[in-house]
Amino acid sequence: MIDSRFFREDCYINGLWVGGQDRIKVNNPATGEVIGSVPKFGRKETAAAIDAAQEAFLLWREKPAVERGELCRRFYQALMDNQKELGRLLTIEMGKSLKEAMGEVAYAANFFRWFGEEARRIYGDVIPSPWAGKRIIVTKEPVGVVGSITPWNFPTAMIARKAAAAMSAGCTIVAKPASQTPFSATAYGVIADDVGIPKGVINIITGKAGEIADEMCENPKVRKITFTGSTEIGKQLASKAMLHMKRVSMELGGNAPVIIFDDADLDRAVEGAMISKYRNSGQTCVCANRILVQAGIYDRFAEKFAAAAAKLKVGDGLEDGTEQGPLIDDSAVTKVEQHIEDATSKGAKVIAGGKRHARGRSFFEPTVLRDVTPSMLIARDETFGPVAPLFKFETEEEAIAMANDTEYGLASYFFTSDLGRAFRVMEKLEYGMVAINEGILSTEVAPFGGVKESGLGREGSKYGVEDYINTKYALFGGLTK
Ligand code: SIN
Repeated sequence: MIDSRFFREDCYINGLWVGGQDRIKVNNPATGEVIGSVPKFGRKETAAAIDAAQEAFLLWREKPAVERGELCRRFYQALMDNQKELGRLLTIEMGKSLKEAMGEVAYAANFFRWFGEEARRIYGDVIPSPWAGKRIIVTKEPVGVVGSITPWNFPTAMIARKAAAAMSAGCTIVAKPASQTPFSATAYGVIADDVGIPKGVINIITGKAGEIADEMCENPKVRKITFTGSTEIGKQLASKAMLHMKRVSMELGGNAPVIIFDDADLDRAVEGAMISKYRNSGQTCVCANRILVQAGIYDRFAEKFAAAAAKLKVGDGLEDGTEQGPLIDDSAVTKVEQHIEDATSKGAKVIAGGKRHARGRSFFEPTVLRDVTPSMLIARDETFGPVAPLFKFETEEEAIAMANDTEYGLASYFFTSDLGRAFRVMEKLEYGMVAINEGILSTEVAPFGGVKESGLGREGSKYGVEDYINTKYALFGGLTK
């Protein structure tokens, strides 16, 4: 049991806490201890949550934008006022360090603040009419009930990115968190009560992923599906949602390149690549999956980068000074091991880490591999763990070709001090997001999302609201006397 009033083991539906007999147990990945359980709900309970969201939608959409915005702002404040307590809950169920967890709570809160402000700026248009005596007006309307499915790697922020956008636009939401990390989500029910969100506007349901997703995709009251997770599941959900012509936002997998050019500031490049790779123990869809280093700087970069990785402090996220927590579970570790084994069997060399950490469980040493080539598994597949593979390239054209040689197109990064190159490369990278001389780019004010098989739609920023809005064209005729 976790001693926090935010720790709730029931679902939050229509403003009420709803329990069930059939349960899913939840572990702390750092200790293996069972910390609690949540209901294993299915289609019936999901349909009930959707009904509640639909009823609430009819009232919520009528609220003046300024009032919806104010409730979002209060949500922001509540998250910030309880940042440490919520961060602790997140660390216990997910494993990331308390520092990162508190950072995530602030990241989540910022979405509520941003979208709360945006609520007042969802403007329509008046289009000059081509006909005398007629007027063309364009209005913006909330899409309706939103079904949201979010992953375990950012259990607080991913819901916020969707719920805040939905709520500001006038939509209501049924949110299904990952079964590994439901408590950061059920905590949203406590906050919703605290800040006075009307019942049914936000509903949190836990349980059988397939059944909940099917109900969301097939129930006609749901008008939009938003998902963050793997490309494989995203494709399944998008096809099901499409059968019912629902709007979709899909934030899917990545295979992010970090390109280090010879002319880069070496220390800045090492620092940027470190944060990109090892944030959240490498369990992010925007984290460096391939580090491409130009031949002239390769050895020096490899040496400094490996030294920095070896210094990272691995431990329970609640311990002081921990920089890298455990991976989410044993299958995550197995995947990391397979990538290392495949690379080393084909000629890559381990220059830092390389194996399970002495602490046992799902702790893994921050690892660096050099002499990695595009024929290795790690070049194609998202590792989702703390392994940095260093590839070598000779020319700018080769780096761009290598970077784009993937079906994914989410985040990319490069380091250079040449302004011309910065623009050339930025324009040629086939990615939804590009960071130049920076290793982290996530913020609520910028559009987050990918191209190619990394997904559809954008989250955060003014573009993020558009995904929750329908455009209506109204023609007013007969206006002449
Ligand atoms: C993700 O990994 O899905 C999100 C990462 C972020 O928002 O920075």
